[in-house]
Amino acid sequence: MLKAIGSKLDLLRDQKAKAYYCLVSDLLENELVLKMKEFTHHGNTTCFQHCLNVSYYNYVICRFFSLNARAAARAGLLHDLFLYDWHTYKPEKGERLHGFTHAETALKNAKENFYLSELESDIIKKHMFPLNITAVPRYRETIVIVLVDKYCGMLETVIPRLKKAGEFFHRFVKVKHSA
Ligand SMILES: [Fe+2]
Ligand SMILES: [Fe+2]
Repeated sequence: MLKAIGSKLDLLRDQKAKAYYCLVSDLLENELVLKMKEFTHHGNTTCFQHCLNVSYYNYVICRFFSLNARAAARAGLLHDLFLYDWHTYKPEKGERLHGFTHAETALKNAKENFYLSELESDIIKKHMFPLNITAVPRYRETIVIVLVDKYCGMLETVIPRLKKAGEFFHRFVKVKHSA
């Protein structure tokens, strides 16, 4: 089962997700894309799951606004294809921090392994705007990923904490009742 955070749709099997799945099925079966499952990104979320979340919501929003939903979905799935654990990554001397460099690394990896349109390249390269202040989005689809990436990152960080707090509260109430 493959789900985007906050959605109940099974992206592999649900009829409603078929249009999305058809656009990214080759990427979802690709070894390099699947390798992102090995790296944690935000909280308990893997890099793969984060990219899937971003890809799916990119697609939904761009389709709603009649933008290029295909490019949004595909570039969303590749936007963090940097393939290392950024928590333990040590930049070389003179190299900037992960936040500033990983979009370029992801673009390089994506370009080496997949055909990318100019729009898809822009989406990947500039998704860290405004942190990367010089990478100004050229297309509306890039502005969408700038917002969706931050929104998903926030959900991925906050939801597990809320769940934990909820479980703690539930246990606390249970103990009070049985006392
Ligand atoms: Fe990123
Ligand atoms: Fe991201």
